[in-house]
Amino acid sequence: MSHIESLVDRVLEIDRELDAEEEQILRKRTLPEGISLVKRFGRTVQLPPPRPTQKTFFDVIVSRRSRRIFNPWRPVSLQQLSNILFSAAGVTVRIDGIYEKLDYPFRASPSSGGLHGIDIYVVALRVDGLEPGVYYYEYDEHRLGVIAAPCYPYTLVDCLRQSELRNAPLLIILVADLSRGLWKYGKAYYKFCLVDAGVVAENIHLAATAEDLASVIVAGFDKQRVVEVLGLNKYEIPVISIVIGHGVRA
Ligand SMILES: Cc1cc2nc3c(=O)[nH]c(=O)nc-3n(C[C@H](O)[C@H](O)[C@H](O)COP(=O)(O)O)c2cc1C
Repeated sequence: MSHIESLVDRVLEIDRELDAEEEQILRKRTLPEGISLVKRFGRTVQLPPPRPTQKTFFDVIVSRRSRRIFNPWRPVSLQQLSNILFSAAGVTVRIDGIYEKLDYPFRASPSSGGLHGIDIYVVALRVDGLEPGVYYYEYDEHRLGVIAAPCYPYTLVDCLRQSELRNAPLLIILVADLSRGLWKYGKAYYKFCLVDAGVVAENIHLAATAEDLASVIVAGFDKQRVVEVLGLNKYEIPVISIVIGHGVRA
């Protein structure tokens, strides 16, 4: 058996093992005690309300491109960050009775089971009106939770494997919190979270495009180091990142 064949056999084995736990899902409609859809931080920074751009959806789709060369000096504005985060995960409607809750939040991105397993960490190097730092998007309040020292933005930017990306003013890291859905989907939730992260990442990439910013979705970063620097628990897995800034036209 070739190396590639043995790799695919191993992947299929893992995939079947993940899928095998999906069968109970329809019966699980109550959010267990202790499952929270958001984390809280002592200090917070309110974001300005999102403001729509003038571009059509079609404009955004045809102008989207992965761009990796950034103007290191030109900051992203707080309004742009607000629009991007709202487009990624802001609350668009609340509906009673979902998971037996009142006012259950439905958000800009779809997610498996509506459980929103993806948390958004903002590494701000140069954002106008925002102290350089590391933040967590508290989607329900449209604000940033401040993640204190020793979690420094440059330590996280250094986790990017492509050095040319490290001078971008803004890095967003998407972290799957498996505790949100393991109770419902079993191990299959790991697979669903990877899809959830892709969906959020694309909304961010398109929202950045709508803001005339350059951006690229980046899988190539040191995830174990991110776990250490962000102080994540064993349920929390960094999946994908998005690097954003003003582009430099070639
Ligand atoms: C899941 C995923 C991971 C990616 N990881 C990287 C990456 O680590 N580094 C990078 O430069 N581009 C990365 N990209 C961007 C792709 O290279 C890019 O989408 C591809 O070259 C096609 O170019 P386009 O996006 O401009 O159409 C990634 C894209 C996706 C969807």
